Amino acid sequence: MKSDIKLIDGSGKRLDGRTPDELRKIKIEAGVLHRAEGSCYLEWGNNKVIAAVYGPREAIPRHTQNPLRAIVNARYNMAAFSVDDRKRPGPDRRSREISKVISEALEKVVIMEQFPRASIDVNIEVLDAEAGTRCAGLTAAGVALADAGIPMIDIPVACAAGKIEGQIVLDLGKEEDNFGAADLPVAISPRTGEILLLQMDGHLTLDEFNKALDLAISGCYTVSELQKKALLSKYESIMEVK
Ligand code: CDP
Repeated sequence: MKSDIKLIDGSGKRLDGRTPDELRKIKIEAGVLHRAEGSCYLEWGNNKVIAAVYGPREAIPRHTQNPLRAIVNARYNMAAFSVDDRKRPGPDRRSREISKVISEALEKVVIMEQFPRASIDVNIEVLDAEAGTRCAGLTAAGVALADAGIPMIDIPVACAAGKIEGQIVLDLGKEEDNFGAADLPVAISPRTGEILLLQMDGHLTLDEFNKALDLAISGCYTVSELQKKALLSKYESIMEVK
């Protein structure tokens, strides 16, 4: 979408004062829901997301069961009040797509063979949305899965990079997403470096794509440290109480 909004000022700062390679402020808390096996509350800029993990439990309906391994069933949902124009409740094309790509990303890190016929259900609720909710949701899901003690090869993490006013920048905000030229959400397994999710909205040259991919991956490593800190601080506080 074209606009007259200036997304980068003369000194190279973005609308919210960030430099091109700066993330929005991120806050992560593990274990916020007592009924879920594992959970996470995450704020990423003005995004607010909760992830809750249930299972492994018998997959229902039974025809979804795989006799050799578990399935990961992620369900991304945006609250009606999470966006400027009220969002019609219930699944739509966009939320089905996001649920599918997040499920596939999580299946690559969960050790699925340990739980034949089971389903690991990951609910992602977006309470407040301001661009980048799939990355925020997947990152929260990674913490919630670890909090649930689900065996994984790694804690998955996501971050986006994009292009605004001809420049590659990290972690697009709302206006940048609306009026920028491209958005590239990426999820990785930080230990192996494997890419778990890669989507692109807009146009990038090959050089720009490579630069955006490197920047998004470096963002993932920064966010990964915050995930680990959140999990450590939950378990440290439990140890203190004991
Ligand atoms: O959230 P994410 O960037 O992963 O996905 P998107 O489809 O690129 O959506 C970008 C942003 O548009 C969301 O984060 C919301 O802030 C906004 N949006 C909205 O206002 N109403 C919707 N029905 C869907 C998205």
